[in-house]
Amino acid sequence: MADKNTKKQLPGILRFLTKLLQIILYIPIQIIFIPFAIIGLIDGLYKEMRKSKKLGVSFSAGQALQYRWIMHYFNTRPDPLSVAFTKKFPCESHFGLWSTLGALIISQRLFGFTTKLGKLVEPGEETLESTAGIRLLKFDKIMEKYVDEVDQIVIPGVGFDLIALPFTKGKEVKVFELDQVQTINIKIETLKKTGLQHDWINYIPVDYSNESWVDNLLRAGFDKTKKTLFLWESVSLFLEDDTVKESLRQMADLCVAGSIIAQDFYSKSFVLGETSKTVKKTSRMIGKMGEPWKFGIDMSNDPKAAVESFLKECGLKATEIYQFGEKLDIEPFYCIVEAEKL
Ligand SMILES: C[S@@+](CC[C@H](N)C(=O)[O-])C[C@H]1O[C@@H](n2cnc3c(N)ncnc32)[C@H](O)[C@@H]1O
Repeated sequence: MADKNTKKQLPGILRFLTKLLQIILYIPIQIIFIPFAIIGLIDGLYKEMRKSKKLGVSFSAGQALQYRWIMHYFNTRPDPLSVAFTKKFPCESHFGLWSTLGALIISQRLFGFTTKLGKLVEPGEETLESTAGIRLLKFDKIMEKYVDEVDQIVIPGVGFDLIALPFTKGKEVKVFELDQVQTINIKIETLKKTGLQHDWINYIPVDYSNESWVDNLLRAGFDKTKKTLFLWESVSLFLEDDTVKESLRQMADLCVAGSIIAQDFYSKSFVLGETSKTVKKTSRMIGKMGEPWKFGIDMSNDPKAAVESFLKECGLKATEIYQFGEKLDIEPFYCIVEAEKL
């Protein structure tokens, strides 16, 4: 009996001792990093918050780029292009990220010390913390699934997402990326500084307050008779209800049979900051940076039915709904949806 218990406990004890050893090794590395981290943090905060405001660049788009950097260095999603871009991007500090996260990155690489940043959760077990990463992997999968089936790809609210570069390089497919004027201009400038080839992408700046993104898209050569993939990732959250509906109706109008609109939605309670204290804090901070969260779908009862009914109002039919955290006993907070014209 005693033997059995010892056997049962051994892996647990071993795990504990391994973790302890990893923490003991990690602490001196972290101490060495502290002075750099202080300078890096100041540099990072200045660039992300002050400089982005000064240049009129989307803060939230910069944060999404930052997560791509993190995933690259923690080995959960290789993205050398986003890393190269970050190095030249005026609203983010590559040094700042390295100096604040470097001790963890080195400890993971040298002796397997993993934190939440270096782990991926199982499908259906996504939590609020793991959403930023799994979201990127899911949209990669969608791109991979359709890139060879469609003639055009449109990415409205593209920010500093570089997904189109590796997936469409050397392919026949036409790519259109749209965003606010300053965000697109800084993106092109940074790509030039980085030396990353991007000449097959059509960048379309839009002044959403007095221009129609559809007119700009058509002027740039979008063909309404061709099969299209729309990637609308993490944009609806920042728009008014009416604008979300109007934008989706416009996308539906631009779609021929076989076209797909891939997008994501947050729950109403997430948008209102009711899901957790961290969400509330993040929401306040993003709001202060000029991009308050606005649109969410009431997912409290039947999230899939709520999403389907919302899309129906926009002239769309959901073909795939991937609900985050579906296997967990938590309130639904986020989903990724593929839809087609009704
Ligand atoms: C969170 S970022 C997402 C960027 C990108 N899709 C990604 O996943 O990295 C939201 C983006 O929506 C853009 N945006 C803001 N207002 C918009 C509007 N009215 N229409 C379209 N895009 C808008 C912002 O400029 C920003 O780039």
